[in-house]
Amino acid sequence: MKKDISIAVVGSGYVGLVAAVCFAEMGHQVVCVDNDERKVAALQAGDSLIHEHYLPELLAKHRNGHVRFTTDLADATRQCAAIFIAVGTPQSETGDADLSYVEAVACEIARSLDSYKVIVEKSTVPVYTNEWISRAMERNGVDRSLFDVVSNPEFLREGTAVVDFLHPDRIVVGADSERAGAVLSEIYAPLTTGEYYERADSIAGCCSVSEPPPLLMTSTKSAEIIKHASNAFLALKISFINAVSNLCEAANANVEQVARGMGLDTRIGPKFLRPGIGYGGSCFPKDVAAFRSVAEQMGIDFNLLSEVEKINVQQKKRFVSKVRSALWNLRGKKLAVLGLAFKGETDDIRESPAIEIVRMLMAEGCSIAAFDPAAMQRTEQILPPSQHLRYARDVYDAASDADALLILTDWPEFANLDLKQLNQALRYSIVIDGRNLYDPHVLTDHGFTYLSVGRPAAYPARDHAPISSR
Ligand code: UGA
Repeated sequence: MKKDISIAVVGSGYVGLVAAVCFAEMGHQVVCVDNDERKVAALQAGDSLIHEHYLPELLAKHRNGHVRFTTDLADATRQCAAIFIAVGTPQSETGDADLSYVEAVACEIARSLDSYKVIVEKSTVPVYTNEWISRAMERNGVDRSLFDVVSNPEFLREGTAVVDFLHPDRIVVGADSERAGAVLSEIYAPLTTGEYYERADSIAGCCSVSEPPPLLMTSTKSAEIIKHASNAFLALKISFINAVSNLCEAANANVEQVARGMGLDTRIGPKFLRPGIGYGGSCFPKDVAAFRSVAEQMGIDFNLLSEVEKINVQQKKRFVSKVRSALWNLRGKKLAVLGLAFKGETDDIRESPAIEIVRMLMAEGCSIAAFDPAAMQRTEQILPPSQHLRYARDVYDAASDADALLILTDWPEFANLDLKQLNQALRYSIVIDGRNLYDPHVLTDHGFTYLSVGRPAAYPARDHAPISSR
């Protein structure tokens, strides 16, 4: 018989909020704590704050039942058996993860702790953080027998966070004590036993009663490293295919064919081999830097990670060069930009390669008309409209009288544009696609010059071949 566990989740960002609502969906009693009163008030009123599938529905379903929101961490600590720390671990100037929020939460928990609790690291943290949390607890007068620190990294992606949480490839629990490991196993039992997937109201995904997710029990330090190593490896895969795409461009080969040929090897796999304008977001850039820094501090030569970062920086510059190669001079050019978010299906613009490219193009003297289905409001806050930057009503408004159209984010709707209407709106029929959303023949058949990533440039019959800069 399933046991409901009382859980506190500290932090209501992407990971914290999704974890809180999903634990509630799994049947637990959850208190989500944040020290930002405005955020807590908004969540209490039913505003899900982030653009994420299923989140509004789950919030509406559990808000007045299995999940509540508060600023009172002391009270939540006393009431709950497990406390998940899901606060930010931003990148510091040296590349290290800044763990001051984690430390502040640990100290506050220590001050209110009155019985045995499992403290769970959910934020992405470097190896040894569990030891620092333990030390902080003890320095604040908590007896070692009153708590365990466990690492339970999260692998959800923005945009598909709820489904990723409820249908994970694996659940990793790093616990050095059996007692704490058992609490975590109990928390995830609705998923690992398949019980959740049997429910008529469960959210569908790739797991099922017959194929529930595995739970991997490891040491705490291994779990901490699993998270950093996984993100760094995925970033490496992206940089690798981006480097291959550059080679394909030089050799006049097609990177999509190469990626498919590689990905069919089950040892390589097809995922995360999509070339583009480089990875962004709040995780990969920060986590690769933090992992590199952890290795450095431990005297381990992990220069491979610096190369991953270098390729990622170059990829954006290469894209700007590609725009130049299509338009000759950049100064005074009018460009339509589709996409500002760091990837499709999210309004998150943190470390967005699209925004970096917009900045570079503006620095070269271009005027931009940008459109994004969800991220314009956030972008306006850091890049206000100006004489050289306009936020458009829709794709065709952005394209109106532009010298070329650039695709910078892989929103599904950008892969289904009305090409006739687009052609009429643009001044010149040029599409430069940083996400390879189109079959080049389709675009040339509609009269476009089409440049993409790692594939031969494609020209309609009437246009001219590229002019070599050599
Ligand atoms: C990433 C990981 O995928 C999650 O497993 C992890 O939990 C999360 O970080 C985190 O640590 O919190 P996320 O940042 O939401 O998730 O985004 P991804 O879907 O991984 O994409 C990251 C970036 O790589 C995006 O800019 C995307 O456009 C780019 N990307 C991704 C590519 O350029 N090519 C690909 O093949 C895949």
